[in-house]
Amino acid sequence: MNPTSDPGSEAVSPEGARPVARPQVVLGVSGGIAAYKACELLRRLTESGHDVTVVPTASALRFVGAPTWAALSGRPVATEVWDGVHEVPHVRIGQSADLVVIAPATADLMAKAAHGQADDLLTNTLLTARCPVVFAPAMHTEMWEHPATRDNVATLRRRGALVVEPAEGRLTGKDTGKGRLPDPGEIFELVVDLLTRARGTAAPVQDLAGRQVVVSAGGTREYLDPVRFLGNRSSGLQGVALARAAVARGADVTLVAANVALPDPAGAKVVRVETTAQLRDAVVVAAAGADAVVMAAAPADFRPANVSQAKIKKSGDGSAPALELVQNPDILHEISTRRVRPESVVVGFAAETGDDTGSVLDLARAKLARKGCDLLVVNDVSGGAVFGQPDNEAVILAADGAAVEVPRGSKAALAHAIWDQVAARLG
Ligand SMILES: Cc1cc2nc3c(=O)[nH]c(=O)nc-3n(C[C@H](O)[C@H](O)[C@H](O)COP(=O)(O)O)c2cc1C
Repeated sequence: MNPTSDPGSEAVSPEGARPVARPQVVLGVSGGIAAYKACELLRRLTESGHDVTVVPTASALRFVGAPTWAALSGRPVATEVWDGVHEVPHVRIGQSADLVVIAPATADLMAKAAHGQADDLLTNTLLTARCPVVFAPAMHTEMWEHPATRDNVATLRRRGALVVEPAEGRLTGKDTGKGRLPDPGEIFELVVDLLTRARGTAAPVQDLAGRQVVVSAGGTREYLDPVRFLGNRSSGLQGVALARAAVARGADVTLVAANVALPDPAGAKVVRVETTAQLRDAVVVAAAGADAVVMAAAPADFRPANVSQAKIKKSGDGSAPALELVQNPDILHEISTRRVRPESVVVGFAAETGDDTGSVLDLARAKLARKGCDLLVVNDVSGGAVFGQPDNEAVILAADGAAVEVPRGSKAALAHAIWDQVAARLG
């Protein structure tokens, strides 16, 4: 972390021993209609112990005024290089930042950044910052797809900035399309991920830049009738953590989400599905051009042989209908054994409970061989541990016999441990 000149910006470490520097974040806001959503991002950052300096452009101030940014950040707000010149803010703010995030990033702001222009405080800050820089663009689809914007985005990415893909959905007017600012809570998660990794290593590496990855998440539902289904307890948290981590490492991410009640991770393309058949079709399509596929979803092994078109009624004689099940397709086996790109890496998950036929690891090794994937992430789910929990622990088994133990920690930490293994195999 860079040192801070602000004496108020220290927090006491959990042990109460040595004060730790609070991360210094610059929140750049440019003049898009989504500027109001940056207030939510600012709030989350300050409430989680970050010192945030907001640097809005003049256009941004036409959408949300300086008093809002100053009150929410607890810091003065300037737009031009001419305020408080004795502190040389046009250099100092960028130099002392641990991370710069621009949300929303307009087409205009990215054009200026790509060309090294420096005609206001934010563009000067971008030239002096030597920390991770994240652009969260938001604009109409036509502006995003324009060749000028495409070139500017490519230039910024080539120089190491993380330019997050905008989300799809409702835009400023009545139209919809690609160009929405991702969920502010998800931009926050991305910022935290980058800052956390910056603390552990010299710089958060974008070792998946230019890679296409597919992640499946959640649990499938197999319908008995229009209102009832067989499901499972998978929340999708681990898959979402994998998608977030891959975005933070620069990948082009498709998340196939089965009944996941969580916001779309910033920068990921999300395909929402319900049944195992839908999950299989979506994964097969997305996997065709992928460098890596991580199957974190819990597809149902069986589905009802027949789906009633009408709600199944209770009979008056107290009897219950017999439930006949048939096997679902084995998606992991199919993806592993019929690879469009033989050099791609396929990762499966095994939620196991040991039994008299073997321990959790014995069963997992057998599964790895049966499925034909490269890596298998093994969770011991005896007693329902893991589902819906923020933490996880696992062993990552490799087809070549290697095994990496990942101690109990956040699902984000396990996600990065998995991508470390994938990145090593992608070379
Ligand atoms: C109502 C309104 C909404 C706008 N929304 C966006 C937007 O979402 N994205 C964008 O790139 N530009 C948007 N613009 C255009 C920018 O405000 C304009 O390009 C401006 O020069 C950007 O300045 P800045 O990059 O210095 O903030 C919008 C303009 C108006 C009037």
